[in-house]
Amino acid sequence: MSQHKPETKKITTLRLQAMKQLGEPITMLTAYDYTMARLLDRSGVEILLVGDSAANVMAGHSTTLPITLDQMIYHGASVVRGVQQAFVIVDMPFGSYQISQEAAVSSAVRIMKETGCDALKLEGGEVVYPIIQQLTTSGIPVMGHLGLTPQSVHQLGGYRLQGQTDADAGRLLREAKGLEQAGCFALVLEKVPATLARRVASDLRIPVIGIGAGSGVDGQVLVTQDMLGMEDSFSPKFLRRFGQIGEAIDTAVTEYIQAVKTHTFPSESESY
Ligand code: KIV
Repeated sequence: MSQHKPETKKITTLRLQAMKQLGEPITMLTAYDYTMARLLDRSGVEILLVGDSAANVMAGHSTTLPITLDQMIYHGASVVRGVQQAFVIVDMPFGSYQISQEAAVSSAVRIMKETGCDALKLEGGEVVYPIIQQLTTSGIPVMGHLGLTPQSVHQLGGYRLQGQTDADAGRLLREAKGLEQAGCFALVLEKVPATLARRVASDLRIPVIGIGAGSGVDGQVLVTQDMLGMEDSFSPKFLRRFGQIGEAIDTAVTEYIQAVKTHTFPSESESY
């Protein structure tokens, strides 16, 4: 008896690679829960990232550092249950891969086994090559993340544009190539000049997904709650709000309160 599920239109690393070759832009959004994952998946976005930005968006922390491995696994498994076709990537949280190579492999195996996701993402350049080599040779697809790497916010001195000097740009380009050589199937470039990002995307064979990295890359990623207009306290230059869902929620909740206060909800037809 076959152990494979029936064929779906599930996105794979091969499809993402083909999209780069065909020049077809890749779309990626963050998701942290089942309900949102279902909605995003049904809209046809190719990649859902269970970002450690869940620490900010879901838990209200000011950095991504506090989120734990168990919490990422909870978010990852919730998202996977809502998805039929998107490729689901889970971020390895701060502290889950920095301590030792062994700890990194054990964290990665836990995320893969307990969430059912398709791939992992981790931040950094040269220092993470050995981890990426080990994970990818164990069969785990890994996405790299360079430029503004929020897990290093204290070392970077804030959420600032990266790769601005020739030396920084040169290092970023070298590390992007190094991540590809180490086995990454794709790379996120966050908050870097558009010309540098374009150069990285044209020099690499793997897809480069940008956030605040201009239009010369192979795809774009945004934090869903930001692009839907659910969070108005964060307005970086790169963010376009494609919806006003925060306002829609305000209106709906105001109407609900009004209906309850005026005894017009529930009506007879809404009662047993
Ligand atoms: O955690 C996250 O949401 C991310 C994206 C911003 C790329 O890493």
